[in-house]
Amino acid sequence: MKNLENYKIESKRVLFRADFNVPLVNGKITDTSRIIAAKSSIKKLISNKNKIFLVAHFGRPKGKIINKYSLSFILPSLKEIFNVDKIYFLKNLDEESIKTITEEMQRGDLCLVENIRFLKEEEKIDLHFAKRISNLFDVYVNDAFSASHRNHTSITGFAKFLPAVAGNHLIMEIDNINFFLENSKKPNMAIVGGSKISTKIQLLNNLIEQFSTIAIGGAMANTFLLANKKNVGNSLIEENLNEEAIKVQLKAKKLNCKLILPVDAVCGKNIQDTHPVYRKIDEISSDDMILDIGEITTKLINEEIINSKMVLWNGPVGAFEYKPYDKATNVIAKIIKFNAKKLNIDTLAGGGDTISAIKNAKAEDGFDYISNAGGAFLEWLEGNESPGVIALKENNFS
Ligand code: 3PG
Ligand code: MG
Repeated sequence: MKNLENYKIESKRVLFRADFNVPLVNGKITDTSRIIAAKSSIKKLISNKNKIFLVAHFGRPKGKIINKYSLSFILPSLKEIFNVDKIYFLKNLDEESIKTITEEMQRGDLCLVENIRFLKEEEKIDLHFAKRISNLFDVYVNDAFSASHRNHTSITGFAKFLPAVAGNHLIMEIDNINFFLENSKKPNMAIVGGSKISTKIQLLNNLIEQFSTIAIGGAMANTFLLANKKNVGNSLIEENLNEEAIKVQLKAKKLNCKLILPVDAVCGKNIQDTHPVYRKIDEISSDDMILDIGEITTKLINEEIINSKMVLWNGPVGAFEYKPYDKATNVIAKIIKFNAKKLNIDTLAGGGDTISAIKNAKAEDGFDYISNAGGAFLEWLEGNESPGVIALKENNFS
C-alpha cells in the first residue's frame, strides 16, 4: 500500500478524502478528533507544496443539497487545527470550478469541497464522474478510515483513476486494530453494547470465536433477555431477532465463550424519566423500560475486566446520553482507566458512542488505542476489510 512515507507527493494537485463527519450539538463541534486525525497528513502535504482539495461528507443528505448539512461550518476549526490562515471553499465539484480554484491557489494551499454527499454521484458510485474529476488531479489520498467501509465514489472511485495513497491516520487505525486482533492473549473479553442487536450480530458471531468472555449490555441485551423468556416490560427490543439471539448463545456455548447478560437493571418509565428504579431481571414490570445495567451486572463485568489480559469495547451498556443512565458505562470506563496500565491489560475501544462515553468519563488514559471509527471499526472487527482499504491495496498506478 502506498503511503506518505514510501510515496513522494510534491507540488501536486491532491484529492484528499478526510472524515469530517464530526458530532455537532447546537452548532458547536463537540469532538474535533476526526479533524485532528487528518492533521499529520495535511501538514506533510502542505509542507511539500501541494494544492490540496479536501473531500468529506457530513450527515446523510442522500444526493441532495440540504443547507443544514453544508460543511462550511467546519472551516474555522480546520484553519485553527491545521494552522493555516486561509482555506478556499468549493461549492461545486465540477470541472470548471476546480480549474478556476486550482489556478487561484498557491502551492501549499487548502480547499475544502462542499459535502460530497450533496452529489448523487457519490453514493451510487459513478465512475464516469470519478474519471472526469480525477483528470484534474495528480494523486488521491485516503485518510478517512472511519468512512472507508462505504463503497462510495470518493472512497473507492477516485482510486480507480489516480495513484491512491494511504494517509497517516488511516495507517495508524489499521495498524492498531490489527495489532490487537493478531496478538490475542487469553483470557480476553469484549464488551458489546448499543441499542440494536441487528447491527451487531455478525460482530458477535465473529467475536465469539476469538474471545473468552463477551459482556452484552445496552438495549441489544433486551432482545437476548426476551429470547430467554424474561419479561422486559416496555424496553426497546427487536422481536424478530429472537432466533438470532438464541443462535448466538448456542454458538457461544459450543465454543466455550462465556456470555454475560444483565442480571439486574436500572429502569425508567421512559428515557426522560429522572427517577429510575432498580430491578432484578426477574422483577421487571410491564411499564418498566430497561435503561442501564444494574450494579450486580456492572460488578460481574468489572471483575471479568480485571481478570482479563485484553479488553475490547464497542457500545455503551446503557442509554448513556440520558442521565442517570450513563452510570454503568461510566463505572466501566473508570475501572478500565484505573486498572489497565496497572494490571497490564491491553485495551482497545471504538465506535462513536463509545468514544463519547470514554471522553465523558475522562477515561482515555485507560486505553491503548481508541479508534475514531464507528461503522468502519465494527466492520473491521467483523472480519471485513473496508472497500476503501482494498482500493488502496489494489491500486497500482505509480
Ligand atoms: C461515520 O460517522 O461513521 C462515518 O463518517 C461514516 O458516516 P456514515 O455512517 O453516514 O456513512
Ligand atoms: Mg456511521
